[in-house]
Amino acid sequence: MIADRVREYIVEIEKSSVSNKEELEAFRMRFISKKGVLTELFDGLKSAPAEDRRALGQELNALKNLAQDRFKEFNETIENGSEKELSATVDLSLPVTPGEQGALHPLSIVKRRIIEIFERMGFNVSYGPEIEKDWYNFSALNFADNHPAREMQDTFFISKSEVATREDVLLRTHTSNVQVRLMERQKPPIRSIMPGRVFRNEAISARAHCVFHQVEGLYIDRSVSFKDLKDTLYHFAKEMFGKDTKIRLRPSYFPFTEPSAEIDVSCFICGGSGCNICKHSGWVEIGGSGMVDPNVLENCGIDSNEYTGFAFGMGVERITMLRYGINDLRLFTENDIRFIRQFQGA
Ligand code: PHE
Repeated sequence: MIADRVREYIVEIEKSSVSNKEELEAFRMRFISKKGVLTELFDGLKSAPAEDRRALGQELNALKNLAQDRFKEFNETIENGSEKELSATVDLSLPVTPGEQGALHPLSIVKRRIIEIFERMGFNVSYGPEIEKDWYNFSALNFADNHPAREMQDTFFISKSEVATREDVLLRTHTSNVQVRLMERQKPPIRSIMPGRVFRNEAISARAHCVFHQVEGLYIDRSVSFKDLKDTLYHFAKEMFGKDTKIRLRPSYFPFTEPSAEIDVSCFICGGSGCNICKHSGWVEIGGSGMVDPNVLENCGIDSNEYTGFAFGMGVERITMLRYGINDLRLFTENDIRFIRQFQGA
């Protein structure tokens, strides 16, 4: 009886294998521990016939040794395995490599600041697509069919028909496309700013790039006036460039605003007395603005007899260059960490 069980256990031990610590422990509990099957068999020895005891005792001892050897063997493979795994992922003898700490890009710093100022005036933030239909970038904004800005030299077209159509697909040349999308889907009052990346087919130089950033703004409600535009821009300029900053609105033309004006701020480098940055004029230009043309409101389904509005747009690169005295636009896209780090905490 004992002899049969011994034979069965021998087969079982020889067949067994373990692949993790839990299985190793199960093996130990079954064959090695005091509560295991071997203890039980040794106890059984006492009631075996006296003449068999010696032989059975030897068999049991052999079984015990076999179990212990196997246990040792299993234990070693498992320990080695986990050591190997560890050393494959971490080499504790390697010298430490200093990590490259990044920093917020100056364009992001300035964009965030612009957003913050307008948010405090009650503007929310809207985004729209960079790949856009002609309708949203040009037609809805009152651009004539033959307007030069539609030409290949300014606009990157993705698909273009012989004669301009509203379905032509292009890379947006300004974030005004978001204004159209907003007006089409939301009833006034609308008070929103649109930050984003824009594209124009320009040769890359210190002063021009084919990819740059704008923040545009739109305010539409009953009886919004040019004075509201001026107050808003004046408040922004003081918050952005300092409380002594002045603004100047210079008559201009945009197809989507009437009247239109360029936005100048008093030069915050020289305070208006004249320097290289303002080319000795005392003023620097930061963007365009105007009262939304009634045609644009009607194109977007807003009753121009009931509502009026203003819009403005400014270049983030331009403001950043003025603010930090950066003289080459290309630095923004070179991705040189030494350049970017200089603006931390600035
Ligand atoms: N969309 C114009 C541009 O990109 C800027 C602008 C916006 C001007 C709103 C007036 C009003 O040049």
